[in-house]
Amino acid sequence: MKLEICPDIETVSQIAAERLATMIRAKPDLGIVVATGNTPMPVYAELVRMQARGEVDCRNLRVFQLDAYLGINDDDPRSLFGWMMRSFITPLGIAPENVVRFAALPPDPPAECLSYAAKVRAMGGYDVAVLGLGPNGHLGFNEPPSADDAPTRVVALTEQSVASNGHYWGGPDAVPRQSMTAGMDLLLSARAILLVVTGSRKQIILNQTLHGPVTPQVPASYLQTRPQALILADADAAGGKTA
Ligand code: GLP
Repeated sequence: MKLEICPDIETVSQIAAERLATMIRAKPDLGIVVATGNTPMPVYAELVRMQARGEVDCRNLRVFQLDAYLGINDDDPRSLFGWMMRSFITPLGIAPENVVRFAALPPDPPAECLSYAAKVRAMGGYDVAVLGLGPNGHLGFNEPPSADDAPTRVVALTEQSVASNGHYWGGPDAVPRQSMTAGMDLLLSARAILLVVTGSRKQIILNQTLHGPVTPQVPASYLQTRPQALILADADAAGGKTA
């Protein structure tokens, strides 16, 4: 695991987008799993600006959904698939057939999780995972405890995740209690992992991720065991430090 600390969110986002652009130039059909949440939004916006300036062409990317609430249809404003479409797929002009997703309202959610994981594996796994850090150390919706071999599955959200996701949807009551998430096994096998962490409210959990014991109680701590992981943090998240 490598750590890079930048002075502010803008710099984090520029560096993250530049790293992704370098990978995309080398492999235009890169397989990328993209987190929603607030943290990576400026990264995606920067990638869109780079594409508009002709600096990168993201249209041939193969994109994988990271996680999905259970019981939420695509036309619901809380749909994480919808958020991924609005922030990444549509502005970058990626064809819907190049997107691997979790079905909305699957009749058999555990079977849907198996089917998603099988598709990812059949396509050779993820080239790159762009992830945010949950306030309890989750990656995607791999809630604690999640070990490094936790598979793609249905997960019950912890109270902490319900509270933090409540910020997106106007309060905890609007947050679904279950989700489907790409497993730790798939995420930690990505050939590159980019974890973006910004803001002082991530300070304690970032410190545990970087320096605490490697434990299922902090799923992101498994990144310590992955040389292909780069953590890009701003000074607020890193406790005021800059590189
Ligand atoms: C959410 C999502 C994650 C996201 C994380 C951090 O619950 N399941 O994919 O990365 O929490 O969110 P944010 O970036 O808004 O802090």
